[in-house]
Amino acid sequence: MKLYDGWKIILGLIVFVGFFTLPIWLNLSSAQSKVKPQLVYPKDAMQCVENKDYMNHYHMDLLNFWRDSVVRMNVRYIVRNGTVLTHNGEKLEMSLTLACLKCHSNKEQFCDQCHNYLDVKPYCWDCHVQPKGGLK
Ligand code: HEC
Ligand code: HEC
Ligand code: HEC
Repeated sequence: MKLYDGWKIILGLIVFVGFFTLPIWLNLSSAQSKVKPQLVYPKDAMQCVENKDYMNHYHMDLLNFWRDSVVRMNVRYIVRNGTVLTHNGEKLEMSLTLACLKCHSNKEQFCDQCHNYLDVKPYCWDCHVQPKGGLK
């Protein structure tokens, strides 16, 4: 009789602990299955407007600087080491649409990958044109 009750208590405990930690287990498994950013890089460009590490950390600041250059100073072309940067022979302008998305033409498979993962929501696309995926 005593042994039998002991079993019931242990079984009850296991069920209890399992049930109350269920949200933790569910959370863990969903965190693991949450899609990690899968970045698709441009195939027709070797490098970004600045080095990769800089871009990774400071692309938002760079974009702010671009906006100020264009809007306040009317300087549009991107100059590095005294020459205007080009992509496939075209001069690149300091512009979301005409530079960033020219090379990173598939926003869903690049910008959005990181932003969705980190829950960052740039509001830029309220106004700026966002070419449809794959468009150059
Ligand atoms: C309320 C509308 C609006 C929003 C939102 C907005 N912009 Fe703009 N932006 C403009 C306008 C208007 C210009 C001026 C266009 C020109 O002179 O070519 C501009 C110009 C720029 C330029 C320079 C040229 C160009 O056409 O790209 C950059 C870079 C830029 N914005 C970046 C951003 C970024 C980054 C964000 C989000 C963080 C953003 N903007 C959000 C309206 C907006
Ligand atoms: C001339 C084509 C080109 C332009 C224009 C361009 N990129 Fe890039 N970008 C690349 C390439 C290629 C890479 C990969 C660089 C490498 O592997 O060294 C890259 C890398 C990056 C990275 C780093 C990703 C990582 O893995 O950490 C970010 C962020 C980025 N770009 C954002 C931008 C933004 C924002 C703009 C506009 C301000 C922009 N890029 C303009 C070609 C471009
Ligand atoms: C490697 C990951 C990564 C990639 C790729 C990436 N971003 Fe970001 N982006 C971030 C992070 C992280 C932040 C948030 C930084 C913060 O909150 O301080 C951010 C913030 C921004 C912001 C400022 C948003 C705000 O509300 O302050 C803009 C604008 C932006 N990204 C544009 C772009 C564009 C355009 C591209 C594609 C050409 C791009 N990013 C690609 C990681 C990325």
